[in-house]
Amino acid sequence: MSDDVSVDREARIRRALDHLKKDTTDQVEKVEYFDAFEFTDPELAQRERDLVFGRVPTIVAHSSEIANTYDFKTVQMPRNKVIIVRQKDGTVKALVNLCRHRGALLEEGPCGKRRLFSCPYHRWSYDVDGTLRTITRENTLGEVDRNQLGLVELPSEERHGFVWIIDQAGLQIDVAGWLGPEMDQILGGYALDKLGCIREEAFSEPVNWKVMQDAFLDGYHIQYAHPNTAAKHIHTNVMAFEDFERHCRFVAPRKTIDRWLEEDPGDRSLVDDVTETHFIGPNTTLLKQPDHFQLLTFRPDPESPTHSVMEMRLLVPSPEVAGLTEERWTRLWDKNWEILLAVLHAEDFPVLRASQTGMASRDAGQMLLGRNEVANQVFRRLLKRLLAETPEA
Ligand code: FES
Ligand SMILES: [Fe+2]
Repeated sequence: MSDDVSVDREARIRRALDHLKKDTTDQVEKVEYFDAFEFTDPELAQRERDLVFGRVPTIVAHSSEIANTYDFKTVQMPRNKVIIVRQKDGTVKALVNLCRHRGALLEEGPCGKRRLFSCPYHRWSYDVDGTLRTITRENTLGEVDRNQLGLVELPSEERHGFVWIIDQAGLQIDVAGWLGPEMDQILGGYALDKLGCIREEAFSEPVNWKVMQDAFLDGYHIQYAHPNTAAKHIHTNVMAFEDFERHCRFVAPRKTIDRWLEEDPGDRSLVDDVTETHFIGPNTTLLKQPDHFQLLTFRPDPESPTHSVMEMRLLVPSPEVAGLTEERWTRLWDKNWEILLAVLHAEDFPVLRASQTGMASRDAGQMLLGRNEVANQVFRRLLKRLLAETPEA
């Protein structure tokens, strides 16, 4: 299989090189129009929380972030506050972060290690699998069915080194089914479970989550919004694209490929001369760089249509695998992370915040996605489909 994969990758890279030579790019069939209210409407935002995040699996962490038994993280999902926690048998559970007595927030910290979750209000406690363990002053409380009073569990699964959850209790989760055969195989081929998440940060922005997600599927803005940073390394608006229905990916040539504009590269591998961008529907961008991965996820605010959280993670091989001393390895990723943060804060976020304020214009007029904005079109098409389908009764 790996031979087929690398042959296929080299062919896609050559297609991108060909586009670069001809000043063309892959395109989808037609221009797609949209309206400003899609980024401000509270009712649509509610439907997205329920029909998108409440129905399909999305990534909430890399497995290495809760590597050991009793490790936990808390996550604000669009519909629920959630604790993800590593169990005694090594599996992961997702539990709604709320005490079943009178609803106090059980766990306020972002992450840590707990053998049990103990409520700050009246000190009821729960095992890490959500089972109710202790009712304080139980003799005075009256008869209750303890089995009905465990923490509410959400569907969760670990696959390809990530923890995925559906933000609605009572559903079945099937990550492979959601990914489909192509994307499931692609992610499987990257052995992402062998990497570590060494940097992780969340950015809370006054911007609709779709505006945010769109910016990180966009190969068209690089030269204009990032002239002195990203554009020094990556070509603008040149993509060899594959459509997998709910997901897609495209390769974009890096500037190092320019030496092959005149000369034929022959059979040599050009993998170090491209970035591969994956859209994992409905809210994730996975960037494959020559020596590491970058994962970006976008989640709507639980209430406001004009706010969202972006999480950025750097997934890297261990120093031994990378062939670096611990010190050089740390310095490498520190520097990498600093550059990413600088570009986000100085270049992407200001444009996106301003765009969101513009979307409040009552007479915005129609806007559009071009045929060249391939991944953005896949994202938009997926949301349209999810919002159109009525959930099964
Ligand atoms: S609300 Fe948690 S113990 Fe009362
Ligand atoms: Fe950007």
